[in-house]
Amino acid sequence: MAGNKKLHAANKAKKDEFYTQLPDIENELKHYKQHFKDKVVLCNCDDPRISNFFHYFSHNFEALGLKKLITTCYKSQERDLFSSNDSERAIWLEYNGDRNGNRVPDPEEIGIHYFNGDGDFRSPECIELLKQADIVVTNPPFSLFREYVAQLMKYDKKFVIIGHQNAIGYHEIFPLIRDNKLWLGYGFKGGAGHFISKYEDTATAGDHREGMIRVSGVNWFTNLEIQKRHEDLILYKAYSPDDYRRYENFNAINIDKTSDIPINYDGVMGVPITFMDKYNPEQFEIIGLGIASLGLECGVQPYKPEHKKYRKEIQKRGVVDGDLYMMVDGVVTVPYSRILIRRRQQNANELQTPMAAEDGAEYGKNK
Ligand SMILES: C[S@@+](CC[C@H](N)C(=O)[O-])C[C@H]1O[C@@H](n2cnc3c(N)ncnc32)[C@H](O)[C@@H]1O
Repeated sequence: MAGNKKLHAANKAKKDEFYTQLPDIENELKHYKQHFKDKVVLCNCDDPRISNFFHYFSHNFEALGLKKLITTCYKSQERDLFSSNDSERAIWLEYNGDRNGNRVPDPEEIGIHYFNGDGDFRSPECIELLKQADIVVTNPPFSLFREYVAQLMKYDKKFVIIGHQNAIGYHEIFPLIRDNKLWLGYGFKGGAGHFISKYEDTATAGDHREGMIRVSGVNWFTNLEIQKRHEDLILYKAYSPDDYRRYENFNAINIDKTSDIPINYDGVMGVPITFMDKYNPEQFEIIGLGIASLGLECGVQPYKPEHKKYRKEIQKRGVVDGDLYMMVDGVVTVPYSRILIRRRQQNANELQTPMAAEDGAEYGKNK
């Protein structure tokens, strides 16, 4: 591997070494308690000596009524990428609950097993353990998030995992969200988490904490039923054509803040990715996705990929063919990312009809 590439890969991998705080785990998992009874839980990116996921499930084993807890620990083969996982070999633990009646997981109650390989969640040894699991709960490496979720889907597992909200826009993840196979959990206060880490906290936000790194935009991703996703987003703005800009190449209005979603508009709306935190599939339907420089995808296409009127301007700005764009004070403007949604609950008397597409094309149709 060329020098630069290697460094880049190493940096990327190193950024995966941060550890979740117990209160953050407790705050999220209190909403899922009913799911854990008689279940096998797997934490498969967790050094049990430092993982608060292992701590949480082993100490709450009886309270949750768990059947079994399995925790696997990864040992990176690259010395310089190796952080706190300092045992000679990768291990996995099995805990079947308290046997001596003291309600605490004692060392003699925890079975320690050695992996032949490095404990990579994708290795055959780890996949065998995954097959045994009912629910997977962890904070996996962000750099492998796509593969991690794909594996959970392949083996049809229930899960509650931490990821970055940018993952919502990933080509591999968004269709799962659109098709209600994956949704966001309750999340972190203020949309940011503090993780135990040796990295220097370079974030500019004021709430720096010693020994922690602040990561903004983190969230929980799950496919377990939670109350939150059945709660309606309370809307209060009325639609007026003067207040909402339309895209030039897709028949939808642009919305910069989730709170600006109008209460009485039944056409397609482009909303920021943070909307997913408020998404209730009974209230809204997801139509597609637009990411700057990648264009529209996941079921929709622009109805005027080559807009003659603005062609020069588009070329000047380097807008990629298919990017969702609008005109702001005469300037072609591409929003960074927009999820295209439409209201489900409709009261015919209240609703405004979206403007007919200029060129008579039907919006929302795959063409
Ligand atoms: C973001 S950290 C979270 C650690 C722990 N789950 C927690 O929340 O405290 C991700 C962990 O995944 C581990 N990891 C990296 N690549 C892995 C792989 N291929 N298989 C399993 N674990 C991996 C890293 O060593 C790191 O400890």
